[in-house]
Amino acid sequence: MSINQLVYISQATRKMSSEALLEILKTAKENNQTMDVTGSLFYNGGWFLQVLEGPLETLNALYRKIEKDPRHKHSRILYNEPAKFRTFTRWSMNMTNLDDRQADKYDQLVEVIDAAKTDRKIGAASPAVTLLRIFKD
Ligand SMILES: Cc1cc2nc3c(=O)[nH]c(=O)nc-3n(C[C@H](O)[C@H](O)[C@H](O)COP(=O)(O)O)c2cc1C
Repeated sequence: MSINQLVYISQATRKMSSEALLEILKTAKENNQTMDVTGSLFYNGGWFLQVLEGPLETLNALYRKIEKDPRHKHSRILYNEPAKFRTFTRWSMNMTNLDDRQADKYDQLVEVIDAAKTDRKIGAASPAVTLLRIFKD
């Protein structure tokens, strides 16, 4: 089945504790699994960046729901394109809290989020394309 990849950035409406992040992760994992959605969620200094992968209509409906969540605001789609393969095959959802400063690929991920905040490219690539590349290899 053909799939799409959707990447968006948003701002948390308040400072997210680890518990609050885990709460989002738990719901996301449970729901996404039943919808054949995979992806990854990154949190850094009050900003969310999320990749969602799955059938186009499923993703669009899921995004419309997530967008309305009062835990974040100013959500903006950076990328919504068909893909031959999923990048995050292992996770119905995964969470990386970059505020912990321990993440694998920490510097690259912070650079992607910083670029996305201001709509800046990284070299010739958009932040979303850079993000997907980081995990492709
Ligand atoms: C940053 C962020 C990312 C989220 N990601 C997902 C997700 O990937 N899948 C999902 O089902 N819900 C996600 N949610 C939660 C939804 O907005 C919503 O609360 C949830 O889907 C409702 O689940 P329910 O219908 O089972 O009560 C996310 C919320 C936030 C704030």
